[in-house]
Amino acid sequence: MAGLPDNVLERTHSCGELREANIGQTVQLCGWVRSYRDHGGVVFIDLRDREGVTQIQFDPSDDPELHRLARTLRNEWVVSAAGRVRSRPDGMHNPNLPTGDIEVIGRRLVVLNRADTVPFEPDTMQKVAEETRLKYRYVDLRRAEMAEAMIMRHRIAKCIRDYYDAHGFIEVETPFLTKSTPEGARDFLVPSRMQPGTFYALPQSPQLFKQMLMVAGMERYMQIVRCFRDEDLRADRQPEFTQVDVEMSFVTRQDVMAMNEGAIRAVAALCNVPMPDAVPVMSYQQAMDEYGIDRPDMRFAMTLKNVTDLVRDSSFKVFASVAAGGGLVKGLTAKGGASFTRKVLDDLGDFAVRQGAKGMAWSKVAPDGTLNGPVSKFFEGDKAEALKAAMGAQSGDCMMWIADTPATTNKVLAAIRSKLGADMGLYGDSDFAWCWVVDFPLLTWEEADRRWYACHHPFTAPMGEDLPLLDSDPGNVRAQAYDLVLNGTELGGGSIRIHDRGTQKKVFAALSIGEDEAQAKFGFLLDALRFGAPPHGGIAFGLDRIVMMMLKRDNLREVIAFPKTASGACPLTDAPSAVDEKQLTELDLRVITPPPPDKDVLTGQQHADHGDR
Ligand code: AMO
Ligand code: AMP
Repeated sequence: MAGLPDNVLERTHSCGELREANIGQTVQLCGWVRSYRDHGGVVFIDLRDREGVTQIQFDPSDDPELHRLARTLRNEWVVSAAGRVRSRPDGMHNPNLPTGDIEVIGRRLVVLNRADTVPFEPDTMQKVAEETRLKYRYVDLRRAEMAEAMIMRHRIAKCIRDYYDAHGFIEVETPFLTKSTPEGARDFLVPSRMQPGTFYALPQSPQLFKQMLMVAGMERYMQIVRCFRDEDLRADRQPEFTQVDVEMSFVTRQDVMAMNEGAIRAVAALCNVPMPDAVPVMSYQQAMDEYGIDRPDMRFAMTLKNVTDLVRDSSFKVFASVAAGGGLVKGLTAKGGASFTRKVLDDLGDFAVRQGAKGMAWSKVAPDGTLNGPVSKFFEGDKAEALKAAMGAQSGDCMMWIADTPATTNKVLAAIRSKLGADMGLYGDSDFAWCWVVDFPLLTWEEADRRWYACHHPFTAPMGEDLPLLDSDPGNVRAQAYDLVLNGTELGGGSIRIHDRGTQKKVFAALSIGEDEAQAKFGFLLDALRFGAPPHGGIAFGLDRIVMMMLKRDNLREVIAFPKTASGACPLTDAPSAVDEKQLTELDLRVITPPPPDKDVLTGQQHADHGDR
């Protein structure tokens, strides 16, 4: 580097490293000026790098010239500073900072680069709009929490790779330019220039490739791989996200669960997150019955109670008619909920309606054991006692019910349960509740199209003993599938696969996928199943979700370096962008609805085929 004084880039330590043991040493640090304080002549600089912050001071009586230079520094300038480490004077120690016992007395200072005033200070807790954080992500990533997230994400990924490597897995890359895989979301498509009118799909997962790797005899495969799904975004969903994708040959469901639980256990240990020796296993049916959802949050005990049979003959028509019509009447009991105000209950009722319910009935249990609330008049004497017993409710509690189709009742109560858990503070910050959910149904009926869909994907193997039901009672066929759930978030899911062409054809038929369609879409997999497919199964975890949960962040964007906003945009690069005519012509494409005029247009230059790559 021309123009820089000798050795200024030779760092002896990081900015997060110096401790009392280093007192007396001469050190050199490089980093960004995090803050600048001019205290009665002495200038204090907090110098930051990825690892932390170190205080450096410049005293005019030590070196007037250096002190003058230090006074010109501004936040986020990049500097090299050298000096001697000393203990901070009494009363000046900062217990909140790992380097808070020491400071460096500056003996040399070189400005490596200046910085314009940054759009926001990365270290103040100033509220910055997320759009701004993402637009200037390189500034945002300087924040200690973001640096920690990136470092931990790296360490978690490494821990996962090491674990699988130690167990004989090899990482194999699979294509990004591929054919649509049916994971249930919309595909991102990439037009082919060489074959006009045709498209690649970006993989929603490497599902079919990993199965073919098993046919190929790779036996134990893993890959930390980007997946792409064009679906509506939520806090725990991104359009591109990273899977820890795994497949194994010659295994049972128990083998796959045990092996992969081990990987997550290693991650939990790395992150000091507790995980029981035996993660509880719950059937899908039990999860739906007790939690109304297939990813139960087991940090708190409140479970759903089915009172359909109890209210079948009730004079409360809402309940009776739902019960008569094959619906479900279920409820929750909030311990101590008799203290809920009318407003709290009205708000909960509105929340239930927004979730799709027609209303939320409730009753408080008075100190004398009687019920009070809008529907209590329908439940008196023995009826009240029976209801309380079924609901596990006592004086001082509040019972809430939803009556609707089974799907709506469960969905709404699961949402209410989750809201109550948070609002009532039923779990602590350091609570971690893990479970496996197994025995999912293989198929789910979609009334709108009047046909069956795969609950997971069409390659999931049915339970052997349920195979005969595939024709007679498809809804009751269970899958050899499993999901790992942490605090109500699905960390990963997988299954034993169908490894014979006959069963695969039967399942396609149950899914109303005709022979021709099956051949066109997955002919290559059906072929592979003919040429020596071993029994196999696997799983995929969401790496982003693992990191988010381990670091207790509440959004995937907090653990992804360059994430997309809720509308799928990248404020930093302004993707997605319009493209110029030339590019469209090359691809034989025409845009029907032009993008808004303020959308940047890619020049297309970077895409020109120079033939030199
Ligand atoms: P599945 O579709 O359940 O299974 O995905 C596996 C895991 O990937 C994560 N995940 C996501 N993370 C962030 N944003 C998203 N949009 C997103 N979608 C999914 C979740 C989920 O548990 N091929 C099968 C796996 C298998 O059968 O082996 C599959 O992709 O953590
Ligand atoms: P109504 O008889 O319509 O005045 O309703 C009495 C109570 O039952 C109100 O608190 C409603 O919110 C509630 N309610 C109405 N429909 C349902 C339903 N489908 N499930 C549960 N509660 C309901």
